[in-house]
Amino acid sequence: MREQCQLQSRIEHRLEVRRQQRLHRQVAAFSHQDGLITDSGNRQFANFSGNDYLGLAQDASLIKAWQEGLSLYGAGSTASPLVTGFSKAHQFLEDKLCNWLGFDRAILFNSGFSANQAVIFSLLEKGDLLLQDKLNHASLMEAGMLSEATMKRFPHNDVTKLGALLQKAGSPTLTATEGVFSMDGDLSPLADVKAQCEAHGSWLMVDDAHGCGILGEDGRGSSNHAGIKPDILIVTFGKAFGMMGAAVLCSESVHDYLTQFARHYVYSTAMPPAQAHALTQAVEVISTQSWRREKLASLSELFHSSLADASEVIPTVTPIKPVVLGDVERMQIAATSLKASGFWTGAIRPPTVPANSSRLRITLSVNQTESQVKALAETLSQILREVS
Ligand SMILES: Cc1ncc(COP(=O)(O)O)c(C=O)c1O
Repeated sequence: MREQCQLQSRIEHRLEVRRQQRLHRQVAAFSHQDGLITDSGNRQFANFSGNDYLGLAQDASLIKAWQEGLSLYGAGSTASPLVTGFSKAHQFLEDKLCNWLGFDRAILFNSGFSANQAVIFSLLEKGDLLLQDKLNHASLMEAGMLSEATMKRFPHNDVTKLGALLQKAGSPTLTATEGVFSMDGDLSPLADVKAQCEAHGSWLMVDDAHGCGILGEDGRGSSNHAGIKPDILIVTFGKAFGMMGAAVLCSESVHDYLTQFARHYVYSTAMPPAQAHALTQAVEVISTQSWRREKLASLSELFHSSLADASEVIPTVTPIKPVVLGDVERMQIAATSLKASGFWTGAIRPPTVPANSSRLRITLSVNQTESQVKALAETLSQILREVS
């Protein structure tokens, strides 16, 4: 009873601190249609905050593939993959990913978060070294903190510092970086990172959640764009694929090892086969419909040329456009004003990003029109002048 009270008062205290820091967050229910979102009060906004970069979440061919998958395979997978949860639909998806991305094997997970954790927890042991870019996603950082391996972080994209850490490493080492950084939209210098890893005997793991489908030949992602092949590639299906889930692309032996030892794989129900069936269609769409990447590139050019004078807008070649305002309050005023004008953008604050780097995370999508992007840019310019 006493324990329960202590827990309750601690929770209340922490929530109050969050509110006072203006960092308290809440979930809102939206409905989505053609790049527009509608909230529970029936207000409609142009959506500049999602990760559906290629506009596939509402794509008719994917919806049809889900429906077809349901007719062919039923609603659920019934078990974890090693029991009876793995089906032909999962096998087709893994094979399709391997052919497209050029790996021997793929292994499916229910989320990018669990794929990242599974790789780090199962491959690394006490005494091993894990090197991570300082801006890596929370799923990688948390896995590193909880793993028995020693974790060291190198400054963002600092290959010289990475080289110095690798030079000193005397134990099995894994270097992990994102291909495209989720909150900054910039790219890892993967060719240089890979060269350092090779020179010092480290494996390279690339989390390409935001690059796969967007960069490289036929959307093969950041590694293809940089002309390298990592030892382990993570692709997630919740961004450019328009759905959810993830895969680890790897060698035959890593696949076998994860199948034996990755607890997030062994002890978790496999994704529904209908989902795997629809994801196979998503790979087909992504790899063959290059007009989607071309449209994103032209929206990106329009966005940056319309906001060339705004120093807060960081130029990127990806659909992720950070507008760094620093102070939480300034960022919130900007986000609220944009909302009042009908534009929904990501309002990102610590701890998601480092202190004093609160930002609007504006994302482009194939669902948006040129006139929506122009209108957003005009409104944003005005707001940035007001909050400066
Ligand atoms: C870089 C990166 N890795 C992993 C994840 C987690 O992926 P999922 O949403 O599939 O759990 C995310 C999600 O935001 C991400 O941005």
